[in-house]
Amino acid sequence: MEFSDELLASLRDARHIAVFTGAGVSAESGIPTFRDALTGLWENYDASTLASPEGFAADPALVWGWYEWRRTRVLRAEPNPAHYAIAALAADCPRLTLITQNVDDLHERAGSADPIRLHGSLHHPRCSACEAPYRLPPGIPDKPEGGRRVDPPRCARCGAPVRPRVVWLGENLPQAAWDAARQAAEACDLMFSIGTSALVWPAAQLPALVARRGATVVQVNPAETALDGHAGYNLRGAAGKVMPLLLQALRRSRP
Ligand code: OAD
Repeated sequence: MEFSDELLASLRDARHIAVFTGAGVSAESGIPTFRDALTGLWENYDASTLASPEGFAADPALVWGWYEWRRTRVLRAEPNPAHYAIAALAADCPRLTLITQNVDDLHERAGSADPIRLHGSLHHPRCSACEAPYRLPPGIPDKPEGGRRVDPPRCARCGAPVRPRVVWLGENLPQAAWDAARQAAEACDLMFSIGTSALVWPAAQLPALVARRGATVVQVNPAETALDGHAGYNLRGAAGKVMPLLLQALRRSRP
């Protein structure tokens, strides 16, 4: 894959790079995306039943079981070359801010410290009523198959059911994460948008905001997305292939 000199120069000159990721960055680790035809989670499951406060109130065991199935898949997965290349890129520019919509922990396991999590995490559940954190038992749960009902644990403080600390339909993004992500979008010289359909707002505003400011947006995605028209560079391909090659090209291009 060839990268233009102009793109490599923008990367070399950037004082602050923001990296915005979606489910596609974890696809090569075997984690399903949401909207890919046939394999996407929302292709096979109903989002309002499984990812809304109303769905959880109606059937907590169905929802908790589904999230435990997803958490199990993540615990059995490994970061892929895209996660590692993003972590390594941080050493190649003065400042890098990683913003993710993903609820897995593969960025951290690849070495990215403290990503901004816009949609929460599968790994830090909380009480559905008093919001007290709930500590999951260590290890990998023994429930690989999807769709199995599992009663959620109860909060030790108030007895209400525990829920995943993820953002559900109709819920607000965590304010501190959103503020930090917006600040990075306002300040960065260049933003990568990697493996996201850029359809879910407000998160998808971020690369659009960067483009409106006249800063560079580099998209990495095998498919067309809503962002194509805004991105200065559309690198078509799997993130696990494109990102390591780009990092290598960047390092080679340094005088
Ligand atoms: P989507 O499923 O909407 O989009 C995944 C994107 O990844 C698509 O554009 C694919 O073309 C692309 N893709 C697939 N394989 C890839 C690969 N190997 N390398 C790079 N890209 C690849 O997922 P998101 O955009 O992350 O929200 O979805 C955004 C939000 O919608 C999620 O965070 C979730 C969902 O509802 C909540 O749960 C709150």
